[in-house]
Amino acid sequence: MSAALPPDHGPRLARLARWLLLAAAGGGLLVAWALSQVCWPAQPTARPALATEAADGPPPPGSYHRPAYAAPDTATIPRTALGADIRYGRALVAHTAQYLGPSGTAGHYTNGMNCQNCHLDAGTRGFANNYLAVAATYPKLRARSGTVEGIDRRVTDCIERSLNGRALPAGSREQRALVAYLAWLGQGIAKGKKVYGTGLTKLAYLPRAADPVVGRAVYAAKCQSCHGPSGQGQPAPDGRGYQYPPLWGPGSYTDAAGLYRLSSLARYAKAAMPYGATFDRPQLTDAQAWDVAAFINSQPRPHRPTPHDWPDLRQKPIDHPFGPYTDGFSARQHKYGPFQPIAAAHPDLAH
Ligand code: HEC
Ligand code: HEC
Repeated sequence: MSAALPPDHGPRLARLARWLLLAAAGGGLLVAWALSQVCWPAQPTARPALATEAADGPPPPGSYHRPAYAAPDTATIPRTALGADIRYGRALVAHTAQYLGPSGTAGHYTNGMNCQNCHLDAGTRGFANNYLAVAATYPKLRARSGTVEGIDRRVTDCIERSLNGRALPAGSREQRALVAYLAWLGQGIAKGKKVYGTGLTKLAYLPRAADPVVGRAVYAAKCQSCHGPSGQGQPAPDGRGYQYPPLWGPGSYTDAAGLYRLSSLARYAKAAMPYGATFDRPQLTDAQAWDVAAFINSQPRPHRPTPHDWPDLRQKPIDHPFGPYTDGFSARQHKYGPFQPIAAAHPDLAH
């Protein structure tokens, strides 16, 4: 065979030998790598890498695909009494009205809305009022009440203000279950650590006041098909709760709720609405989010007196829509903006 080779094939054979040697070395490396995987397997990567919102902040919409911190898998909820509470807590978040609403099976504590209407995917969707930081950040001193609030108290806040309801009895199974679910969601997140994707997305202030008239047109084009021409939503077929929740009117959140602050509603809408939008695939421009929020929050809704809120007025957020204020800006400007001048007058407040 070799005799048939022309003499100038010598170098080519040498090249082939070198290539074979390299391939063998590469194969050896591969074997070594495989062995190392058996002996020192990589840490299971059930969750995406941690990124802190404080350090990184959400990048501009559309420019990134970094996942939000993932919630633990519900399949890992233990088959114990605590596990049963966690599961029940999740069901209460997702189907609040069915259990606690006007015709709820566990009592009548809330309006027809669900926690999940505002805390999407039972509070696990990135920047859609995500709950993952709750266990790590509560109990905490809240400026609104001027007191240290535990998770149970924070839940009561949303029941009273967002669901226009009344507190669950202390020590009730429902209260215990909601707290158990929130604690389970936040397991493994170090105390005080802020995790990327929790709460609401950041949104820059507009250089002008948010405009309810422009917002009405945004509403008609992008929201009305589900939430209805008069914001009343669409009741669920079984009559318990809504298929599309109301955005104003008697069945909606109260004027003491977090969403009644324009920035909260605009940030929520930017990252979550129209339904199907996500924080990294938003469907509204910043201006549309602010203007539609201005329109929605200029409509009538249940009033809830809060005489004890903001005991230290200097802590009041700049877009809190009710006075008194420590500055000379009008109540209208505090509600609709422009916010930059107010923010500049309060350099000590976080925005
Ligand atoms: C109408 C919308 C809405 C509904 C319904 C609602 N919430 Fe909220 N919730 C919010 C908003 C907005 C915030 C953030 C408000 C803020 O910090 O100003 C919030 C905050 C919270 C927080 C604190 C989150 C954090 O990271 O600090 C908890 C806990 C919570 N809600 C629990 C619940 C539970 C439990 C229910 C149902 C019983 C519920 N919420 C129903 C809008 C809502
Ligand atoms: C395709 C239907 C659809 C469209 C369009 C839509 N939404 Fe929603 N919206 C929903 C559903 C469904 C929920 C409740 C989500 C859940 O429970 O999982 C919701 C919840 C909400 C909530 C929180 C609950 C409440 O009732 O206060 C707000 C605020 C909201 N939408 C605002 C908007 C705005 C603003 C727009 C237009 C920019 C919009 N939505 C467009 C379906 C829609």
